[in-house]
Amino acid sequence: MLRRVHPRRCQLMIGVARRWHQTSLTTELIENMDKKATWDRFYLETNGQQNTNKFKNFEWFFGFDSVQDIILPLLKHPTDSNTPVHVLDMGCGTSALGPGIYRHSPRPVAVTCVDISPVAVELMQEHTKRTLVKPKSPLSSLAFLELDCARLKEHFKPQSLDLIVDKGTTDALLRSRDGRLKAEQILRQCLGVLRSTGSLIQFSDEDPDARVLWLEKETLSTGAANIGFQEVGVLRGVCYYCYQITPHNATQ
Ligand SMILES: C[S@@+](CC[C@H](N)C(=O)[O-])C[C@H]1O[C@@H](n2cnc3c(N)ncnc32)[C@H](O)[C@@H]1O
Repeated sequence: MLRRVHPRRCQLMIGVARRWHQTSLTTELIENMDKKATWDRFYLETNGQQNTNKFKNFEWFFGFDSVQDIILPLLKHPTDSNTPVHVLDMGCGTSALGPGIYRHSPRPVAVTCVDISPVAVELMQEHTKRTLVKPKSPLSSLAFLELDCARLKEHFKPQSLDLIVDKGTTDALLRSRDGRLKAEQILRQCLGVLRSTGSLIQFSDEDPDARVLWLEKETLSTGAANIGFQEVGVLRGVCYYCYQITPHNATQ
């Protein structure tokens, strides 16, 4: 399996880990990003012990503003303009991406933000209650849920989601010592709960030659999907991409 380790990307991840805590935690973060305990500790140390009024969203790579032009046009429902578009933020952490979609979408959206870390989920639930974010559409809803994305099919009906957004979660799993199998499992689960007209988008700093190959290989057995990508932009010398996976029969 082709897998490039980009030196600049490693520097960036180590930078994140250093900001998080001491270098002793750097190895734990990078090698165990598939583990709930790692992320519980991460979110506790970045936010959980602070005064709740000082809560700050933590953004992996970049925030909603950088990608809203990619996400908002994808908020489509196949039949009805008043039926909420079902959106899943997979591995939401304490990012403001899901709340950003809820707040800025002119179309009604039902946004579910899920994470394996109960610490992250609770922080987001409390923050949302305190800040009372108003959506553009009164029919929109926002929910946070503790869930292992390898079990999406137990929670969501088959072909029920219109858009799944993954900002850094698959990257985290693919880079972990034992996370590759979980990443594959999650990709299959995503394709199972995605509507045929829907899309899964992955924001990543992985080079297309490695990620597209992985996506092609992993989606082959599921009846295949269309895979595309575009550049999001360059931040601190690192190029970021948006990979878009659509079920094979989707009419765009
Ligand atoms: C790199 S962080 C990205 C967080 C967030 N999407 C952002 O942009 O800031 C990866 C996130 O995935 C979550 N995660 C890891 N494995 C998961 C799994 N199996 N199911 C759900 N969430 C998971 C972690 O708790 C963490 O919040």
